[in-house]
Amino acid sequence: MAGVNGKAVIITGGAGEIAREVAARFLAGGARVLLVDINEDALRAAVAALGGDSVDFCVADVTSEEDTRAYVDKAVARFGRVDVLAANAGVEGAVAPVSEYDTDAFRRVIDINVVGVFLGIKHVFPLMARHGGGSIVITSSVAGVGGLPGLPAYTASKHAVIGLMRSTAKEGGPLNIRVNTINPSPVEGRMIQSLEQGTMPDAPEEVRSALIGTIPLGRYAVPADVANLVLFLASDESRFLTGGVYMVDGGMTA
Ligand SMILES: NC(=O)c1ccc[n+]([C@@H]2O[C@H](COP(=O)([O-])OP(=O)(O)OC[C@H]3O[C@@H](n4cnc5c(N)ncnc54)[C@H](O)[C@@H]3O)[C@@H](O)[C@H]2O)c1
Repeated sequence: MAGVNGKAVIITGGAGEIAREVAARFLAGGARVLLVDINEDALRAAVAALGGDSVDFCVADVTSEEDTRAYVDKAVARFGRVDVLAANAGVEGAVAPVSEYDTDAFRRVIDINVVGVFLGIKHVFPLMARHGGGSIVITSSVAGVGGLPGLPAYTASKHAVIGLMRSTAKEGGPLNIRVNTINPSPVEGRMIQSLEQGTMPDAPEEVRSALIGTIPLGRYAVPADVANLVLFLASDESRFLTGGVYMVDGGMTA
């Protein structure tokens, strides 16, 4: 893909299924990538699978400001700058009715999915401003634009990052820092399997069929569907796009 060659990219949740595909696309386009994740073993495996000198990793908890400074510092030490932040780390949390939802579990989801994104933006903004701009792509969800029953924390968190995106897009405009969200429908992989299982432990395949029934294109997304959009929003080809909510959902929210 044209437009990402030479860019220095940070991807949080970098060991996850979507992030690994996003990283592979960036590397194929000539970008340099720092994968950030709390799971060291999975990070090492991801970097080994991607291969080459243009990818590195940093073990960090996105909810920690100290860890956030450390991963941004590592990107600068390695690449000299940060052009792109894919703020992608996220957890689904438990599936439970709101009256039974554990309060600490709710706070934990907000901490990772919202505070973690805030910290990443906070610490890359000055760097991007110094180097003439950048692109921040936040992974929200279809749960960022509509309610999902049994997922109060996840739904609240994915709405919240749209607000964060809108505020920082307005602040970033004069600095040529673009901020957008991507909003996937279910993506084949671990997270949606966990949600299917959490919703109907005895019949997760029924949840899958029901969800697919709400998607006009008739299937879940695959990580490549999401990666294509991240690359476009990170690239210079989207240079006039900021403050936007970009659905990648097969028409689920149409
Ligand atoms: N999979 C889906 O169906 C789907 C749909 C819409 C949106 N999303 C969003 O896409 C993003 C990526 O999800 P995925 O499907 O690749 O899931 P995943 O579970 O494969 O990847 C998430 C990664 O985030 C990491 N992570 C969790 N807590 C962290 C923390 N505190 N600090 C650093 N890293 C942490 C995990 O270790 C994991 O590697 C998430 O924000 C998710 O909410 C996923």
